[in-house]
Amino acid sequence: MTEIKKIGILTSGGDCAGLNAVVLSVVNSAAQLGWEVYGIHNGTDGVTETPLSYELLTERNFSDTPWPRLAGSYLGSLNKGVKMESQAEISARFGKGVAELGLDAVVVVGGDGSMNIVSNYCRNAGVKMVGIPKTIDNDTPLTQYSVGFDSACKVCTDAVDALWKTARSHQRALILEVMGRDAGHLAMRSAVAGFADVCLVPEIPYTVDGIIKKLKSIKAKGRNHAVIVVSEGVHTETGEMVSNTKNLIGEKINGGIGEYLSSAINAKYSEFQTRVTKLGHVQRAGDPTAFDRALACAFGAKAVELLKAGHTDVMVALNGDKLVTYPLEEVVAEGTTLLNKDSVYVKAAIDMGMYVGEIK
Ligand code: F6P
Repeated sequence: MTEIKKIGILTSGGDCAGLNAVVLSVVNSAAQLGWEVYGIHNGTDGVTETPLSYELLTERNFSDTPWPRLAGSYLGSLNKGVKMESQAEISARFGKGVAELGLDAVVVVGGDGSMNIVSNYCRNAGVKMVGIPKTIDNDTPLTQYSVGFDSACKVCTDAVDALWKTARSHQRALILEVMGRDAGHLAMRSAVAGFADVCLVPEIPYTVDGIIKKLKSIKAKGRNHAVIVVSEGVHTETGEMVSNTKNLIGEKINGGIGEYLSSAINAKYSEFQTRVTKLGHVQRAGDPTAFDRALACAFGAKAVELLKAGHTDVMVALNGDKLVTYPLEEVVAEGTTLLNKDSVYVKAAIDMGMYVGEIK
């Protein structure tokens, strides 16, 4: 077993709150062992592009800044997608960059996509890796929570609360479109926490008539306002993806379902005026909650403990109140964790009278 003296850390994929707390935890835990920690800038770009871009992070120069308490990624991140055919070439550059820095292993803070792509580089280049799950989508497999999800739920719930106030003033049905990619965790959790009236997620089919039926029942009970939460990955009633933009490798990106629903509802029912709020990237930028900060610290410290024990090529995960690890291959094979229709939060929503789609 090679003795670890120097490790790298990078954040990859869409940013979220809590990333800098992970970095702090890794830096401080590693410092207790006398290791050096190099922060790699802009995801894997910092070691695959020329010149290399990185910095030495120490307890002194990192803890003593506001960054561990802030959202965003101090190190910078990368969310551009990578084509399969480019992976061999990038892996070679990755291995060369890591060797040039003299790193004994790399901690990768990422979601399901990054676990896949970066673990592939590491395997191809013979670099030891420990993964830490993060994403506002909470769809990283095999972990109950990823860093950043709780903080994003807070932003979305605050938005539902805010919309409820203005919906009430103007007697409107306000639609909030939230992120989450193809998973409805963020929408469902914040809809329940915000006591919304309707929540649509990609995992559960819906009908516009079902939404209207709910709005009519609200009206019949004497309430003149409603809040509808919709996850960006929800398709039209007839199953088409709504998108008005593409990523850097030309794939369509979700976005616009809120506007579609607004027109579809108003085409059949005009008792409530509708308006749409697309929450966008503020969901990734709220202050990290206590839960996310503590989770980030637990994950970061565990990653260092694993490296010390020579246990690599794994991802750290939370299971109940226990930290566990899974081989990266298993994580990648698992794919994405979608919202389970039997989830306690879906059940709570239904039991409270929320319309969540057509559940058989
Ligand atoms: O995966 C995190 C996430 O915020 C998704 O919820 C969203 O679909 C996507 O990233 C947006 O990515 P970008 O910032 O590249 O538009």
